[in-house]
Amino acid sequence: MRIEPAPAITGHIAVPGDKSISHRAVLLAAVGEGETRISGFGRSEDTEATIKAVRDLGVRVYEADAETLRVFGAGLRGLTAPKGAIDCGNAGTLMRLLPGLLAGQQGRFELTGDDSLRSRPMERIAEPLRLMAATIETTEGCAPFTVEGGALRPITYELPVASAQVKSAVLLAGLYAEGGETTVEEPLQTRDHTENLLAQAGVRVTRTPRSVTVSPPERLELGEVEVPGDFSSAAPFIVAGTLLAGSDLTVHGVNLNPRRTGLLTVLERMGANITVFNRRRIGGEPAGDLDIRPSELVGTTIDAAEVPLLVDELPLFALLAVHAHGNSALRGAAELRAKETDRIEAVVDGLRSLGGHIHATPEGFTVRGVPSRIRAGGTFDARGDHRIAMLGAITGLVSREGVDVEGAATAAVSFPGFYDLLDSLRATTT
Ligand code: S3P
Repeated sequence: MRIEPAPAITGHIAVPGDKSISHRAVLLAAVGEGETRISGFGRSEDTEATIKAVRDLGVRVYEADAETLRVFGAGLRGLTAPKGAIDCGNAGTLMRLLPGLLAGQQGRFELTGDDSLRSRPMERIAEPLRLMAATIETTEGCAPFTVEGGALRPITYELPVASAQVKSAVLLAGLYAEGGETTVEEPLQTRDHTENLLAQAGVRVTRTPRSVTVSPPERLELGEVEVPGDFSSAAPFIVAGTLLAGSDLTVHGVNLNPRRTGLLTVLERMGANITVFNRRRIGGEPAGDLDIRPSELVGTTIDAAEVPLLVDELPLFALLAVHAHGNSALRGAAELRAKETDRIEAVVDGLRSLGGHIHATPEGFTVRGVPSRIRAGGTFDARGDHRIAMLGAITGLVSREGVDVEGAATAAVSFPGFYDLLDSLRATTT
């Protein structure tokens, strides 16, 4: 897909419901009691895979409208094994969270996914779940893998990598670990939507700044979940509005959970011009509206401690850094190599070939910023990764000569309406 340069973007937008929360709401509702109503559900290829998975496990999901689901829970131990494998598609969150629930069910379950997902590390969830007495067999550490559930025992688990997905898998299995509390300790704070929703569902959740403890409940009851807009889906627009002189963009109703908004902190350090207003709570999460005006940027460094707070926005940080005054660096982000593709290679190869002064390092990249539009005029290969496709598109928008995004359709993994929304904001003159 060809993305032509734009002088500015202007307008008011809302983005689809948060993907992380949408997955979690459906999964918890599936083992809940009675009906859960989910509004503002973020529909995407990834979250469709979660609806399909719980249906395969015997859960009734009624789609009241595009953004409203009614999930009729099977109860904590009510999931039943389908005949074939559960296909998680491209959805890493589904593949890593669902085994936590399956470990507490009777039966043998097989999970698989697309080529990208089948190459991603799964031992990181298999190891702790085995410590809890689940039987998990992976294919050389990856999917396809099988989960055999049964009686689980509680553990205290120190995460070897800062990963919300692994933390969540252990906490979900902890719901079934009779006779004690399950604790996850994390080296750095990661997104906490699982613990927020578990508390909402009536589970006893105890938190410290670096740990979460759950006790097995008798039942889960979520009731209503209202999903706020996905900050990660707003991020490409925030970046475009910052880089394009003359832009004036407002994003409404977006999740502002501080464990997700590291990009705002980084943008502030770089000198961006973003105002948060109408702060409120949506579905138990902090949320608000954002006003984005353009600004000259200065380079900055992101270290390991900050990485989990903007892990999915780091590709966009590279584009900001390419356009900033001075040098920037990303360090301690080796996890990017284990995402839908190796995001360090994908970002550096893409931006370098279009004129950016960026170099890969083992755990990140370094950038020499030039505060004028990147020339571009070539191709940005999405490599089957939705976040890279959207980076390619925003690169084209802010460039002098435009970009051909190869594999652009993969944006639908998290954001099916992305290109239409981008087009609707394109100002023809400033
Ligand atoms: C997610 C956690 C992050 C993130 C992913 C969604 C989640 O992954 O990159 O897009 O919903 O828990 P890790 O837990 O592997 O860091």
